[in-house]
Amino acid sequence: MNIRWSKCYMSFHFIATTISLLFVARLLQATDILTPSQVLRDGDTIISSGGDVALGFFSPGKSNNRYVGIWYNKIKVQTVIWVANRETPLTNTSGMFKLIERGFLAVIDGSNRVVWSTNSSETVQNPVAQLLDTGNLVVKDANDPNPENFLWQSFEHPTDHFLAGMKLGWNFITRREVYLSSWKSYDDPSTGDYTIHCDPSGYPQLTIKKGDALQLRTGPWNGVGFSGVPNGRKNTIYSFEVVMNENETYYHYELLNHSVISRYTLNESGGGQRWTWVDDTQGWVIYLTSPIDSCDTYGFCGVHGSCDIVNSPLCGCLDRFMPEDPIGWQRTDWSKGCVRRTPLNCSKGDVFLKYSGLKLPDTRGSRFNVSMNLEECGAFCLKNCSCTAYASLDIRNGGSGCLLWFGELVDIRVVSQGEDIYIRMASSEINSKGMKHKLILILALIGGMILLGLCLMLYFKKRKKTNQLAGRARSLSLTNKKDECHDREVELPLFDLNSLTEATDNFSLRNKIGEGGFGPVYKGLLEGGKEIAVKCLSQTSLQGVDEFKNEVSCIAKLQHRNLVRLLGCCSHGEENMLVYEYMTNKSLDLILFDPLKSSLLDWPKRFHIINGIARGLMYLHQDSYLRIIHRDLKASNILLDSDMNPKISDFGLARIFGGNETGANTNRVVGTYGYMSPEYTIEGIFSVKSDVFSFGVLVLEIISGKKNRGFLHRDHQLNLLGHAWMLYKEGRSLELMGSYPGISLCLSKILRSIQIGLLCVQQYPEDRPSMSSVVLMLGNEGVLPEAKQPGFFTERDALKPDTSVSSNVASSTNEVSITLLGPR
Ligand SMILES: *[C@@H]1O[C@H](CO)[C@@H](O)[C@H](O)[C@H]1NC(C)=O
Ligand SMILES: *[C@@H]1O[C@H](CO)[C@@H](O)[C@H](O)[C@H]1NC(C)=O
Ligand SMILES: *[C@@H]1O[C@H](CO)[C@@H](O)[C@H](O)[C@H]1NC(C)=O
Repeated sequence: MNIRWSKCYMSFHFIATTISLLFVARLLQATDILTPSQVLRDGDTIISSGGDVALGFFSPGKSNNRYVGIWYNKIKVQTVIWVANRETPLTNTSGMFKLIERGFLAVIDGSNRVVWSTNSSETVQNPVAQLLDTGNLVVKDANDPNPENFLWQSFEHPTDHFLAGMKLGWNFITRREVYLSSWKSYDDPSTGDYTIHCDPSGYPQLTIKKGDALQLRTGPWNGVGFSGVPNGRKNTIYSFEVVMNENETYYHYELLNHSVISRYTLNESGGGQRWTWVDDTQGWVIYLTSPIDSCDTYGFCGVHGSCDIVNSPLCGCLDRFMPEDPIGWQRTDWSKGCVRRTPLNCSKGDVFLKYSGLKLPDTRGSRFNVSMNLEECGAFCLKNCSCTAYASLDIRNGGSGCLLWFGELVDIRVVSQGEDIYIRMASSEINSKGMKHKLILILALIGGMILLGLCLMLYFKKRKKTNQLAGRARSLSLTNKKDECHDREVELPLFDLNSLTEATDNFSLRNKIGEGGFGPVYKGLLEGGKEIAVKCLSQTSLQGVDEFKNEVSCIAKLQHRNLVRLLGCCSHGEENMLVYEYMTNKSLDLILFDPLKSSLLDWPKRFHIINGIARGLMYLHQDSYLRIIHRDLKASNILLDSDMNPKISDFGLARIFGGNETGANTNRVVGTYGYMSPEYTIEGIFSVKSDVFSFGVLVLEIISGKKNRGFLHRDHQLNLLGHAWMLYKEGRSLELMGSYPGISLCLSKILRSIQIGLLCVQQYPEDRPSMSSVVLMLGNEGVLPEAKQPGFFTERDALKPDTSVSSNVASSTNEVSITLLGPR
């Protein structure tokens, strides 16, 4: 009985298997096309020829409804990039997808009703549908010799995904617009509240709308990118452009590497996000998002207001404008915006004033001319009394083209790499100011001359004295040819080789205390008993010469108690040396990461060190008369004197900036993995905010006693930043601390310091505080902003496979400053 039953079961199973195999065989022949004689049933799929994408029935999220859609075929997480019947789901699995009536695609339910179909204007005798590897589902005439001649294509009817090769924008001939619309929710692909458009009314810009209300705009296209999205301009993933001609205006992008999977989406709450697939463990990683912060909210500061995310309050009026409603403005109600201090008076002749570093105002209603230059543009704008502002259209090659605004200027913010705009002003505004300026200038000139005289007098006096004292001392001039620290002549006390040889016991190995940025460092004892550190430039490295000169010119004129002090230098034939004050306690890493020594470093000392570094860095960034970005801040570059005062050292990679510049872009990324910010590592963009990032890493290292790079945890793959962030989000920040004395008394201060560290390592440079805010935050008890996700919170992030790493600098701790020369 038992045996008979199991036999029966087996033969049933056999039949079932055969039937399903027959089904599969029927499908396999289908490959990437669908002809009118074929039907795609629920459970079947069409795969594009290269296997990149699949089309079939699916249920989103927790829903049981059935939809026809396209998803990536090569990755595990089902990621739907297009939906056919988004408004008309099927409630069971009896649906079909097929070509009907000479070229229309249709979704048909179990009782043969068409619930969704395409309608192309043309029909053909021999249609065929094909799924392309780009994710485009196309219908064409099988007899048409031109394979690009589509009757219909899903790329012209997207849902919430903007894919490489799509044209987002307007075709003026067909009067059709291609735009994205969000899903209603994760479980429901029907049309949600948000749409994203390429808006051609005026000069093109991308806009995100909720219903009809503008939520966010990218700013106008400037030839390189969008005025308000500096982060997205340079990347290794995709290239993008805006195409404008009399037939069409659209935005599109192409992937630079076709094996990288990258997509742009508009999510259910109106956020635009660029995703890139990393691998099965990390899955999708967000590369860009908008909005980035409150300043991205359309018109946040009202007309003629300007939003600056590092300011508090965020909104201000443009220069020479004042709040329309000063009381409301005080209460942070910015809706009324700002008005001119002096009304325009066109008949008396207006002038234009230049404003820099801004996201250009809303260009709806603007006009443009590609052939005018900026000067012609200004002249044109001046002639028309209703023209309120003008700017260059295209910022490449020093700027070209002409963009003109008529009326009020809305939605301006401060952005890194912002642009110049010339705003119309009553002439009296400038003249009164101009007179004042002239007066100040004259006074300053007179004052300057008196000062100069005094300085010269003092200088010669002092020089005479030094000469008498130092006997053989001469002065050395180092002129830097590289642009790193522009042409600056530096005068330094000069030591002679003999006295340094003597002081360091003939540069004996016993006196060697480390390996600096460009060569060995020796301890020395001068005749008078003064301890010094002598840093030698090793003769082998060419790179070293530049860094050596750079260090001299950067640090020679700086004085701050948290910067290491340069006493002089020595240049003798091939030998180049720098002489520093000696630091009894050597570098921070030697104490911090040593299990024995670190237990002696109690919390008050650690906080003292954090504070000192912050002050030293603030001085470099804004208080010294030069603006200096260190670029290689790390524990081994922090020296400690006998009282454990921290001193920032090693300026070999530092860059000097003029008063108004805040950052730059470089093809030569130098720094140390684990401390470099994402925008610097990936895009070569550095600014004071990249130093802030490194500072944040240092803070977390000082608190935890662990290195960011090489951090291991048994529960996860995160680095120290990721670990700190995870604990912070879960309210367990205290677990980050190492064990050392002084903890219990200062818990709130420690928590606060961790949060400050996390604020400094936030992914986006504009979110990170400036060093002066950091110093303030460390020193008081006010409420801190919530920290957002850090950059590079997994170790893997920091290393890009496509960059060649050449290590040119070694240090005592195996932490290597590196140079990246990459295609960027
Ligand atoms: C493209 O990306 C793949 C996967 O990330 C990588 O292996 C390959 O080297 C890249 N090709 C180029 C030309 O960059
Ligand atoms: C949508 O995108 C925005 C901006 O990137 C993000 O802040 C928000 O969390 C996202 N919403 C959802 C539901 O994913
Ligand atoms: C000024 O420009 C506006 C907007 O383009 C236009 O309507 C108006 O005719 C122009 N006025 C003059 C005097 O050219």
